[in-house]
Amino acid sequence: MDALGYIDCGDNREEILYPWIRDTVLARDPRRVLDFGCGDARFALQLARLIRNGRVTAYDRDPHMREQARRRIGAVASSDAGQTGACNVVVCDAPEADWTGAFDAVVMLGVWMCWRTHAECVETLSLLARSLTPGGVLIAAVTHPCFRDCRFATYRTDFGPANYLANGTPFQVFVGERGKEIVIEDYHWNLEAMMAQATEAGLRVATLKEHSDGLAGELPSWLSLVFTRA
Ligand SMILES: C[S@@+](CC[C@H](N)C(=O)[O-])C[C@H]1O[C@@H](n2cnc3c(N)ncnc32)[C@H](O)[C@@H]1O
Repeated sequence: MDALGYIDCGDNREEILYPWIRDTVLARDPRRVLDFGCGDARFALQLARLIRNGRVTAYDRDPHMREQARRRIGAVASSDAGQTGACNVVVCDAPEADWTGAFDAVVMLGVWMCWRTHAECVETLSLLARSLTPGGVLIAAVTHPCFRDCRFATYRTDFGPANYLANGTPFQVFVGERGKEIVIEDYHWNLEAMMAQATEAGLRVATLKEHSDGLAGELPSWLSLVFTRA
């Protein structure tokens, strides 16, 4: 995956995905939030501005992404002089033991499709399930597995619908403006597989949101799943 290329790929996730996730997190009036697979922490920063008396922890397994996240947070913090809550974001280098029971909300945007095997999915989801407070939620957003063969405004894939039941199938995603697209390799997990992995990890789905790819009525390019601990 061209992970760093994703930072400025010019896709529409900030318009069609982030607002709903932000509102869903904020409705819970959380104190501690984890952005797991934070990329350059742009979502974590948006959230931190709106959370009073709280803290957002940002983690990405890719050290280059963590570096980008620290750079972005540093730039925002120095331009705001710490007035807006931007400093309430901390980037951590590894999942911590003290994450257990620590977060009122965990967000995971565009991350599940990075995982190659059922075991990796269950193991990672289990870590996140353990990280929730008893009433906490895990909000996971994925590119919609049922519509991978559609060409959306800012991404398309080479996934064939005949593979829908073939879980773990790798596919390429072309993201961004035509002519300047970046290519990412992702892995397909269908709805049944995601539900089975979540259940195995001790999670139960509470809500689903299918995000129209722009104007109302367009097919959903993203799917968000809100989980609680089972
Ligand atoms: C498509 S990017 C999304 C970044 C960010 N969430 C956003 O919306 O801009 C996926 C990110 O998830 C990270 N990632 C994938 N699996 C992970 C894991 N098990 N732990 C932490 N980060 C992970 C990748 O390194 C990559 O930066």
